[in-house]
Amino acid sequence: EGFFTYDPGFVATAACESGITYIDGGEGVLLHRGYPIAQLANNSNFVELSYLLLFGELPSKEEYVNFEKTIRNHTMVHEQLANFFKGFRRDAHPMAILCGVVGGLAAFYHDNLDITKEEERRVSAIRLIAKMPTLAAMCHKYNIGQPFNYPRNDLNYAENFLYMMFGNPCEEYKINPVFAKAMDRIFMLHADHEQNASTSTVRLAGSTGANPFACISAGIAALWGPAHGGANEAVLNMLDEIGDDSEENIQRFVDRAKDKDDPFRLMGFGHRVYRNFDPRAKVMKETCDQVLGELGMADDPQLKIAKRLEQIALEDDYFIERQLYPNVDFYSGIILKAIGVPANMFTVVFAVSRTIGWISHWNEMISTGYRIGRPRQLYTGHTQRDYPEKN
Ligand code: CMC
Repeated sequence: EGFFTYDPGFVATAACESGITYIDGGEGVLLHRGYPIAQLANNSNFVELSYLLLFGELPSKEEYVNFEKTIRNHTMVHEQLANFFKGFRRDAHPMAILCGVVGGLAAFYHDNLDITKEEERRVSAIRLIAKMPTLAAMCHKYNIGQPFNYPRNDLNYAENFLYMMFGNPCEEYKINPVFAKAMDRIFMLHADHEQNASTSTVRLAGSTGANPFACISAGIAALWGPAHGGANEAVLNMLDEIGDDSEENIQRFVDRAKDKDDPFRLMGFGHRVYRNFDPRAKVMKETCDQVLGELGMADDPQLKIAKRLEQIALEDDYFIERQLYPNVDFYSGIILKAIGVPANMFTVVFAVSRTIGWISHWNEMISTGYRIGRPRQLYTGHTQRDYPEKN
């Protein structure tokens, strides 16, 4: 008693064992169940990757077909859930709505919340993966005052999300295959990243025996901050603020990021674990070039600013010494914007994707044995003292 390892920010503490994701930050390696992220991004799709993360192996053809079909069968949300949205102001941040409605899902599935039963855990996982795009799109539709779209199960996961986001009852919505592919890739690149802040939050909440919907809503809350999932929205706001790609203008912002008296940081730069490069950022940059190229937007002003900013920062001693590189979210916002996703939805898209990572970790923890997470502290308050006498 009384002897603890003091590790604020958990920079040197492993809190669990896990077989899902491997990261070598020095070498820029990211493997899901052993498979490199770039190979998955180029050859797999989000639903297949979800199966891999959740169950540990790539599915056979038949397993894939069944899994995908099961997800499609669960895309609708209970009609009563639409009423939750109406309680929010129209201009509510979609992340605020998402935290609420996902936690609220538990109220609809009381009969399947026995977390000791594998089958019930599996159906909760399927429900979450299937319903997240529906709920996310509902947040957007509510914001802009358009009717909610029911999911269309003739579409695949990414297409369905685009349809629910952008379709409206007045005209036929044509899926742009470039957008759908890019969306699927964004989902894949954000799917899991071992014990990051939100995943650790999900595990900690789950270690109390809380139901999976409550745990995922805790994860969404942790993801929201600008140091984590909120970075993609913050990157675009930063590029807006920078405004033009002239050398001296960009240099001014780089200098501000280096100034310790200025709270400004280069958003989309730096990572706790990656000290060489973020392998997701590499694929994301390629996707960005591809999407904007195919859309004839290769000279998009924000893309130009981002590329120049990256160049200038990577040559600067401050960033070199601290091993700060662009992370996954440096380019994701530019792609999302090109697809038509508004900036306040970027972190919501991240949450849709990370749900599979969160639920896979939760399921792994519940099925392999765990203790309640209970960090200790170094007490810095008063020593014992007597309550003053009243006169
Ligand atoms: N701009 C300027 N300086 C930075 C930045 C940045 N983006 N990131 C780190 N630094 C500096 C920091 O000031 C510190 O300098 P010094 O040693 O002189 O005090 C040094 O680099 C180490 O930084 P740290 O804050 O101790 O590093 P951390 O591991 O605690 O934080 C981070 C990691 C990702 C929160 C941080 O790099 C950051 O705030 N980046 C910007 C936000 C961002 O892009 N987040 C998304 C991360 S990837 C997706 C996700 O996880 O959701």
